[in-house]
Amino acid sequence: MAVKIQVVFYSMYGHVYQLAEAEAAGAREVPGVDVALYQVPELMPEEALVKSGAKQARAAFAHIPVAKPDQLAEADAIIFGTPTRFGNMCAQMRNFLDQTGGLWMGGKLIGKIGSVFTSTASQHGGQETTITSFHSTLLHQGMIIVGVPYSEAALLNMNEITGGTPYGASTLAGADGSRKPTENELRIARFQGKHVATIAKRLFANL
Ligand SMILES: Cc1cc2nc3c(=O)[nH]c(=O)nc-3n(C[C@H](O)[C@H](O)[C@H](O)COP(=O)(O)O)c2cc1C
Repeated sequence: MAVKIQVVFYSMYGHVYQLAEAEAAGAREVPGVDVALYQVPELMPEEALVKSGAKQARAAFAHIPVAKPDQLAEADAIIFGTPTRFGNMCAQMRNFLDQTGGLWMGGKLIGKIGSVFTSTASQHGGQETTITSFHSTLLHQGMIIVGVPYSEAALLNMNEITGGTPYGASTLAGADGSRKPTENELRIARFQGKHVATIAKRLFANL
């Protein structure tokens, strides 16, 4: 049976979505792996989405199916993507994870791989805190945390301003959201997806 990878994200303006596609593309490079992309449900009122310009941006990934908490149990590895909110995960992701109490009770995520990527507006706006504080939830669920090792040389790129951390891939959106994920950042995201899929295959293929 194919090893199952889920990429589960929330994105308001599309930056995290772009990284999510790169994570999925990286994971698909590993043969024998089944990769599915999901977004978590929106919580913002329609009026606020329109006012903030997010309504239009979110149309670009409206085709991505909405995740249900229970389906996390079907995956061997889950790669989560969230924009930062004051150095933490966004409320939409928090709310989604807060509906996994039943999975926790049943130990359904124990031993699965968990990995996280993010987006911030500013260079020092909390990428590491968002990812590492997210890890606490995954550890409570009994998951095995996977990050991005320095064998990906793009992490060491000092020639440009770039996201990308050993904790997980990341991008910088800019204060007005106009900056898009760079090739360096997308490369790190693809690496993370491939790395997670490679380890998942090693652990879960032929079980
Ligand atoms: C309520 C709120 C809080 C935010 N907090 C931070 C922050 O602490 N640091 C930061 O750099 N950006 C912050 N941002 C900017 C978002 O992280 C940014 O819009 C996001 O990374 C873009 O990703 P997306 O296009 O996938 O939504 C915040 C945005 C909102 C709406």
